[in-house]
Amino acid sequence: MSIPVLYEVQLNQRGGIMLNSFDYHSSTSYERGSLGGHYLDWRAKPEPFKTYEGLEQVHLNREVDYIRRDLMKLLCAPDDEARFEPFVDKEKLAFFLVMTEALSAEVPSAGGVLYLRSPASAGALYPTEIYAAVHQAAGLESGIYHFNPLDFLLTRLRSGDFRAFLHEVVGKEGDFTQAVTFFFTAIFFRSAWKYRARSYRYHLLDTGHVVENLVLILKAMGLRYRVLCDFDDDRVNRLLGLDGTGEAALSMVSLEGAGQKPPGGGTEIEDLPASVLNAGRVPAKETDYPLIRLMHESGKGIYRENYETVNTFFPFKAVPNQFNRIGGVPDGAGLSPYPDCVVLRRSRREFIPEPLSKEHLSMFLHALSVSEEQNCLKALATGFIAENVRGVEPGVYILDRENRRTGLVFPGFYTEKMADVCLNQAWLAGAAVHFLFLADLELLDAVYGPRGYRYVMLGAGRMGQRIYAVSTAIGLGCCGVGAFYDAEAAELLGLNQGARMLYLVAAGLVDRRG
Ligand SMILES: Cc1cc2nc3c(=O)[nH]c(=O)nc-3n(C[C@H](O)[C@H](O)[C@H](O)COP(=O)(O)O)c2cc1C
Repeated sequence: MSIPVLYEVQLNQRGGIMLNSFDYHSSTSYERGSLGGHYLDWRAKPEPFKTYEGLEQVHLNREVDYIRRDLMKLLCAPDDEARFEPFVDKEKLAFFLVMTEALSAEVPSAGGVLYLRSPASAGALYPTEIYAAVHQAAGLESGIYHFNPLDFLLTRLRSGDFRAFLHEVVGKEGDFTQAVTFFFTAIFFRSAWKYRARSYRYHLLDTGHVVENLVLILKAMGLRYRVLCDFDDDRVNRLLGLDGTGEAALSMVSLEGAGQKPPGGGTEIEDLPASVLNAGRVPAKETDYPLIRLMHESGKGIYRENYETVNTFFPFKAVPNQFNRIGGVPDGAGLSPYPDCVVLRRSRREFIPEPLSKEHLSMFLHALSVSEEQNCLKALATGFIAENVRGVEPGVYILDRENRRTGLVFPGFYTEKMADVCLNQAWLAGAAVHFLFLADLELLDAVYGPRGYRYVMLGAGRMGQRIYAVSTAIGLGCCGVGAFYDAEAAELLGLNQGARMLYLVAAGLVDRRG
């Protein structure tokens, strides 16, 4: 398969300072005893919803006809059986958006009311914004729109057909008659306000959670889509009216239409006005975290070195003696269906010491065994700590997603130690399983350059959202964890020198009264 190379990047020879994944991750590591207190300035807390002045708004209908799907069949459905969709209408677009990001609860907070949403988000800070390029959508003028999930409306930023432009920015790969292209961005200060330089991790993980919700609805509708992490950053940011430093595009998803008809529209665009560029910013109060800017900027280049020959991104020092297949996909008939398990998802931490069944573990493992679309997930390693699973030896395991098999890396009980490593979040000790997202960052840097960090972190977020969906469908508790002492986590898990834990998602039985 050919990979679009938009820039020829010479690592460390590009003139400016470049940061690689390993350095960024290390520079933003938590170390025991050195965390200190970070004063939260509530007056500087960014608005959680982006709005624009003086642009045309299109209200969407929240009352959508729900579809129901067996979650396990949906998660495991092969993408190549999906159909092309040349056109969507306004109602269908509204449906995709409400399934991707719905407001799902209202809780009091220091800054007023906090709306929780269907995707999980570190600290419920929701840095991710969604945009869409639509054309020939009945009821909607062709153009570029921003989605506001609070008022459930679209704001039109540009009019016109941008398919030719988009065809260029993704390196002329694939079909260019997309019915819709979705863009996922992050407003960096939304999470940096609390998590400072470490927040670039959460921008990517959180965005992965949102992306996966869109992927699930497109799969549920049997539609053909592509998740794109490789595109010309500057041109996409310009298209969306972003400065690329306060807010920047992280991922795209295109809904594929059939055929190779020449698209309308040109490949040149005008800059959007300053009012659009400044929407969603609180510049006077924003603290600049140069590491975020630097890491994002360093990832601009699309780079592949020996990626055809590097087949394994195995992160552990020890190698399992044997691998066991995870068996057939369990029947999901007894579970609550999609989309209930996405819309009703919530983080639950009140784990009880009851064992998880082997069948339920197998559901998670199948849900995580997704194909390596365009290699963006290739470098992401998935493991798990099985602590309290009936019939499964306790220990740290690797999941070989491609071959749907697991290997015991080393036996033992680990959730209590991991709870301590995760800034002593004691509730983690009671979870039946900790799912682990890992990457050999040194190898990642060598193969993909700094942009590789986006692939693995977005991928980890996407898989995290799947774990939440399966947990909710079974009636289990689940919670993502991004706060841990990084070097201690690597030590506890016996990772390679260049490998690090990126994200952990705990799951297990919970106290239903909680
Ligand atoms: C990337 C990421 C990291 C998270 N880290 C933690 C964590 O370290 N500890 C924790 O208790 N919850 C953590 N969470 C859960 C969030 O706090 C939770 O998603 C948010 O408060 C919204 O609540 P909800 O998931 O119930 O909608 C994390 C979630 C994400 C997506």
